[in-house]
Amino acid sequence: MLNPRRRAVLDALVEGPVDPAALADRLELPPEAVVGHVEALRAVGFDVERTAAGFELRSVPAYGYGVQAGLDAPFVVDAHDELASTNDEARELAEAGAADVVVLADEQTAGRGRRGRRWASPPGGVYLSVVIRPTLSAARVGLLVHAAAVAAVEAAAAAGVDATIKWPNDLLGPDGAKLGGVLAESRTTDGEVAWAVLGLGLNADVDSGALPPGATSLRAVTGGAVDRRRVAQAFLESLDERRRDPAGSLPAWRERAATLGRRVRVTTPDGDVVGKAVDVDETGALLVRTDAGPRRVSVGDCEHLRPV
Ligand code: BTN
Repeated sequence: MLNPRRRAVLDALVEGPVDPAALADRLELPPEAVVGHVEALRAVGFDVERTAAGFELRSVPAYGYGVQAGLDAPFVVDAHDELASTNDEARELAEAGAADVVVLADEQTAGRGRRGRRWASPPGGVYLSVVIRPTLSAARVGLLVHAAAVAAVEAAAAAGVDATIKWPNDLLGPDGAKLGGVLAESRTTDGEVAWAVLGLGLNADVDSGALPPGATSLRAVTGGAVDRRRVAQAFLESLDERRRDPAGSLPAWRERAATLGRRVRVTTPDGDVVGKAVDVDETGALLVRTDAGPRRVSVGDCEHLRPV
């Protein structure tokens, strides 16, 4: 994992040539520690050259730890080639007290979706989980999914794709096929959120042949290669803004919602709710106008139906 000090050294390198003695002074580190951090950055793929000016950053990894370089959000990246599930890893870190960490993997062997479903995670996708410790009551924890879904729309936009949201957490491509999703998990204590893990799975630079039927990818939509580093950064930067006021993302969620105004069937633990989805309330629950009257649904699987 890039620790905050290593991140500070990387931030300095991104700004321009680094004089190790001056940086050591600024970061209140011994000069050999700066050299050690540079070595560690090289070991994970950063090309740092020693020049007359000091250290100069020549190139950053195309993905993985490259997401940290130039990231305009206070997260520290923990990048892996392969993990079972970034959410599992992030949950462990959260339980151990971590905050503002992003666990990222190039592929997952046991990626999870909502309700214990499998999440196909071939190489080329964006699979990441963010550990946050928001100041938020447990009753409003569901809003984090909406905030993350809007951030995911903005991540797709960074690749030139106009995505929409199916309540509560699905990201759809322009043709309505599934492009990605958000898996939010949390621990609450005394009515407050202690930690939340927001997992994003986005079919990014993936050939549609590698995806389950009915799914699409940013690459399939644009017809070209996708800069996953930029996509992941756009998600994290947007999420960083939105996590401070998750309810503030509801207007943007409504604007991007494919569900509102549609006939839906929501499969809930208490049975199916069928009707027209009219809005979301201040907790993110879906409001459905049914033949038997209005219903409010906070948990469930939503299916868009053809109009009758
Ligand atoms: C869904 O649509 O059900 C949500 C899918 C979320 C998948 C992501 S991939 C990164 C993170 N790690 C996981 O195991 N799941 C989430």
